[in-house]
Amino acid sequence: MDIVLSGIRPTGNLHLGNYFGAVKNFVKMQHENNAFFFIADYHSLTTHPTPADLHGNVKQVLSEYLACGLDPEVATIYIQSDLPEIAELYLLLNMNAYLGELERTTSFKDKVRKQANNVNAGLLTYPVLMAADILIHKSKYVPVGKDQEQNLEMARKFAKRFNNMYSVDYFNEPIPFNFGNDLIKIPGLDGSGKMGKSEGNGLYLIDDEKTIKKKVMKAKTDAGPTQQNQEMPQEIINLFTIADIVSEKDTVDFFKTNYNNCSIRYGDFKKQLAEDINNFVSPIREKIIDIRSNEEYLSKVAKMGAEKARESAAKTVKEVREIIGFKSF
Ligand code: TYM
Repeated sequence: MDIVLSGIRPTGNLHLGNYFGAVKNFVKMQHENNAFFFIADYHSLTTHPTPADLHGNVKQVLSEYLACGLDPEVATIYIQSDLPEIAELYLLLNMNAYLGELERTTSFKDKVRKQANNVNAGLLTYPVLMAADILIHKSKYVPVGKDQEQNLEMARKFAKRFNNMYSVDYFNEPIPFNFGNDLIKIPGLDGSGKMGKSEGNGLYLIDDEKTIKKKVMKAKTDAGPTQQNQEMPQEIINLFTIADIVSEKDTVDFFKTNYNNCSIRYGDFKKQLAEDINNFVSPIREKIIDIRSNEEYLSKVAKMGAEKARESAAKTVKEVREIIGFKSF
């Protein structure tokens, strides 16, 4: 059985990007593989949440995972900070990660630009912590969206470097995974490239019908096509990308044809899109609300996951310590 792992930062509710980029693939894979799914709460500390927010967000994201179909009886679902072994592997991997390569990652450069007053060391070494997350269970496949491609590349680099340094064949190189082959990027509603938690352009699994409608009706559009088969501007491509994943093929074809012959009415398209998004999220939304109120169940799931995950993590750390040369007197 192959080892599959993925994780999500608990910095807000899950949006359609998280679902289609990572969770959906993972849910499909959990049955045929040895699957680990975790809540990356150490990672979320780079933005300095309050203790109350941190805990609340972890609970919320755990409920959302479960509502999406992650099965705690099948997959190992755990909270990152329940595994101190990850912190130890992170420390060890940090010794072979170099300032230059960490400074050059796109996400670090992005953060330096966006939050110049909080460029902490955790942000710099974020890819090392992520490599520790992945390598701690010797994961083979990692279902993620396109935005995580570079982090996965770094994880492969750190795995290879460790093997070379100690002349071992210990870590395998993890592969980013999507069933459609290419990693995907779900766009936002503001005409920008990516739906994100911090971008304020997201459609969340917890959004109710009214909220979805409001967001979609406000989505950016242009003045409309004036020539047959005219090239679509990015904001219209974005709406069709979302339609492709939530609407029936006939519906998408209908509006595409209307676009191409210049008869499209964006208002109608958006109304239909909002309806299709709501039909998709509403069963998940109901489950989230249901699961979130069941504290006892959530705590049972977290305990069970931590226990299973620690077993595998402790084994790796023990072996890594031996390879490095730590010996007890
Ligand atoms: P995070 O929490 O930002 O996002 C979680 C997952 O959702 C995917 N995703 C998207 N996919 C497609 N389109 C989008 N618009 C979109 N937005 C988000 C992300 O690619 C990701 O798969 N560093 C990670 C969390 C993490 C992790 C790991 C993931 C920590 N350690 C180890 C895998 C393995 C992150 O911040 O994801």
